[in-house]
Amino acid sequence: MWDYEPHIIKDEKPLLDAFIPEHIVHREGQKQLLASCLKPTLAGHKATNIFIYGPCGTGKTMLTNWTLNELRAHSSKVSSAYVNCWKHNTAHATLTKILHELGVFTTYHQAVHELLAHVEKEIKDTKLIVCLDEVDVLETKDLLYDLSRAGIGLVLISNDPYALMDLDMRIKSSLQPETLEFPAYKTDEILDILLQRKPYAFVGGTIKEKDLKLAARLANGDTRIALETVRRAALNAEEKGEERVSSEHIKEAFKKTGNLRKTEALKRLNNHEKTLYLILKEYKKMPTKDLFNEYTKRIDKPATDRSYRNYMNKLVRLGLVNGKGKLTGRIYEILI
Ligand SMILES: Nc1ncnc2c1ncn2[C@@H]1O[C@H](COP(=O)(O)OP(=O)(O)OP(=O)(O)O)[C@@H](O)[C@H]1O
Ligand SMILES: [Mg+2]
Repeated sequence: MWDYEPHIIKDEKPLLDAFIPEHIVHREGQKQLLASCLKPTLAGHKATNIFIYGPCGTGKTMLTNWTLNELRAHSSKVSSAYVNCWKHNTAHATLTKILHELGVFTTYHQAVHELLAHVEKEIKDTKLIVCLDEVDVLETKDLLYDLSRAGIGLVLISNDPYALMDLDMRIKSSLQPETLEFPAYKTDEILDILLQRKPYAFVGGTIKEKDLKLAARLANGDTRIALETVRRAALNAEEKGEERVSSEHIKEAFKKTGNLRKTEALKRLNNHEKTLYLILKEYKKMPTKDLFNEYTKRIDKPATDRSYRNYMNKLVRLGLVNGKGKLTGRIYEILI
């Protein structure tokens, strides 16, 4: 029962999400622009703030962490902190995480202004860059103003191209970020990423390029899904004692990773969006007006029509829902 011969996967790490590759393909333009925003820190200046947006699995988090690692390796005068706002969604939690990244542990009782003062004290002799990933779920956007005013360069990341649109003027004018798009990958681009990892992850001759291409195509622009599909397919083939990974293994694994997309997407929804998703899950298909009415019945403080449209656009963007038709004739349908 416990026999297990690892004869296909040589090293699992290059197939895992957190892996940061040594070389990055198909993101040259993005790499250049991000570097040009952060480079002034090497001369002791503040970094230019930057807003990065694009769909899931397009390399936003990976490229940012890769760039910050490179920059820190170049100068001891530059420090950085990475915060995923999904996990740290208040000003207090975010500042605590920033201090944590700087090697400082705080007590829970410190107030937000004390934490901020503490950050400023810590970075007196260095230039700090803070990456706020999934910034749309950060509850207190005033923090962006405070951090930027403190001379901290911000890298803000979101799936939502409009994540910063509703900020008030004071915050907007203090940020003035560059914007940088990460479009969905084409099948061949994902294939190149998979091919690059193949020799590190697989025993030679155990997976064919055509099967990697199948995983790339099924992933529909999302590298995370492609990597996870390949990893699961390989584990499955190994467990069954087969010599190599086949197209069947890839197709089988994709059925499971399709669910991964859903889990990832659901994690990113606020209460309003979750309610709308659940209504559609129940009714399957609905005209926009009926959906909006049902939503107002189910939620305490329903949003305005404009925010409702933003919520629905997000559900469509995340691939959870499909929208057809325009304005009042629009009909929404559940996808996954
Ligand atoms: N150009 C690339 N070269 C090599 N690996 C890549 C590239 N782009 C993405 N990847 C890999 O794909 C996976 C997903 O990338 P990443 O986590 O950066 O996506 P993301 O854009 O942050 O997605 P999300 O919006 O869902 O957080 C990671 O394992 C990453 O290493
Ligand atoms: Mg990410």
